[in-house]
Amino acid sequence: MKQNCWTVREGGSFLISPDPISDLRVVDSGLADNTVHEIEEIANKLPALIREGKTRDVLLDIKQHDLSILSQDFDGRMLERAFQIYAHFANAYVWCENDNPTDHIPASVAVPLVYLCGLVGRPPILSYASTCLANYKRIDPEGDIVVDNITTIQKMIDIPDEIWFHKIHMEIENHAGRAINACIEATAMIANNDAIATEKALLKVPPVFESLSATFRRMFENCSPDTYYHTLRPYLFGFTDIVYQGVDAYGDKPMTFSGQSGAQSTVIPAFKAFLGIEHEKGGLTKHLEIMKGGMPIAHRELLSDIDTGLIRQFVMKQQSGALTDAYNASLESLLNFRTLHLKMASAYIAKKVENPIGTGGTDFMLWLTKLRDETAAQYI
Ligand code: HEM
Repeated sequence: MKQNCWTVREGGSFLISPDPISDLRVVDSGLADNTVHEIEEIANKLPALIREGKTRDVLLDIKQHDLSILSQDFDGRMLERAFQIYAHFANAYVWCENDNPTDHIPASVAVPLVYLCGLVGRPPILSYASTCLANYKRIDPEGDIVVDNITTIQKMIDIPDEIWFHKIHMEIENHAGRAINACIEATAMIANNDAIATEKALLKVPPVFESLSATFRRMFENCSPDTYYHTLRPYLFGFTDIVYQGVDAYGDKPMTFSGQSGAQSTVIPAFKAFLGIEHEKGGLTKHLEIMKGGMPIAHRELLSDIDTGLIRQFVMKQQSGALTDAYNASLESLLNFRTLHLKMASAYIAKKVENPIGTGGTDFMLWLTKLRDETAAQYI
């Protein structure tokens, strides 16, 4: 499968790379002109359609485009742009009347979406890869991928809070891989039985996490918890018992898929695996496994290639104070990030509602707290 665009590069970015394709009309996609024109045009005016209450009528009315020319041999970024468009259409169709979701997605959206989901290898619904990882656009093409030099390609409602929310995640994803690289380096040093070099590699982790947390704290600058909770979040929810009309593979069977969630980011799962942090098996860990289905395939492969526990066992065996301190400092980075994340989840969701359930569909305060506490219990 040609998904090189999702390979985590040496610089350590989990974002799609090279930069995503933001408009299928300006590349040679192989699709018919009328197809790319119609879908790009509607994708661009999606926020206006939502505002004007026309989303369902317009999406019902579009042609059921034949995308069968697209295959896994195409540039993965092109497939991602097409998938991003249709996934936004699907979530917009179902959730544009937040308190009156539909029980179906019309064939005009469902059939191309399900075809594309086979190509990108993720469920036929909006996921983190489409809202964040493949959704950034540099303002200055030569400049860095930092919040002040990026915007989003696809907007659902087009308000500053929405764009800022995704941009904060993008900056985090762009820098987080440096911590993963440090773990890869530590793993290589273990192969040489070199405790000092392993320690040095692990000491690279805390500064990376400090910068990730600094970015995360900037969420408040331009994304208000109220606006996020009431205006953006409803479009990110999952689907329960939705019929994908016209999709032979599903028949008329109503389908259920989890919604967009940061739990589909590979950063924390990868880091946690490198450190060998274990969590008690149960509903929570089952949910995290399901969330992996929303990750790009190359990210899932990266996760399954990690030799979980190798670093931790090496540190325990060496019984070196300095190495243990370096490991514990890395663990503390994860702990601090999870503590901050818990506070953010509380500010942006839990405080708004009596009985909070995450977009992924979980009683998240309970289990985010458990994940944090279990992390804290695993210092060496
Ligand atoms: C204001 C911003 C954020 C809010 C409100 C938020 C909310 C949540 C919620 C409610 C969950 C529970 C999972 C679910 O329902 O599927 C969750 C899980 C998770 N989120 Fe976030 N999140 C935010 C930002 C982030 C960021 C920036 C990251 C980092 C990439 C992230 C990574 C994760 C991870 C990895 C999980 C799984 C739990 C874990 O392994 O610790 N989130 N988040």
